[in-house]
Amino acid sequence: MNLPVALVEALRQQARDAARNAYAPYSRFAVGAAVLTDKGEIYSGANIENASFGLSICAERNAIFHAVARGARKIVAVAVYTKTPQATTPCGACRQVLAEFGRDALVICFTDIEAAEQRHSLAELLPRPFGPESL
Ligand code: THU
Repeated sequence: MNLPVALVEALRQQARDAARNAYAPYSRFAVGAAVLTDKGEIYSGANIENASFGLSICAERNAIFHAVARGARKIVAVAVYTKTPQATTPCGACRQVLAEFGRDALVICFTDIEAAEQRHSLAELLPRPFGPESL
């Protein structure tokens, strides 16, 4: 999918900004994510950890839930930012949650190093997701 460069830049900017609000005192691995909806709106989120580690939640799911809580139902792209040498792709749980709202979403994983950016379709990251058609 080819998104306008300015829109991708806005998405990247919001993901990078969101990472500053990550609450990751245990892993020290801050992640910021931003999702673009079919209405052209952008919602962001950061990972938020808990002393009960299993209750921690990823940046991607927070961004998706932020969008959905605001009324969005279709996500067309997600940007995931980490301040790491290599780009970070979403965990399996986040891929499944994204499948619910953005089966055709473009996933842009990026860092401060331009050449490290990776772009994938969700279908590539999560072939054959579980979905409502199975229920
Ligand atoms: N994390 C994310 O927020 N997104 C990812 O794509 C991978 C992992 C978070 C979860 C946890 O707070 C920390 O990164 C280390 O796993």
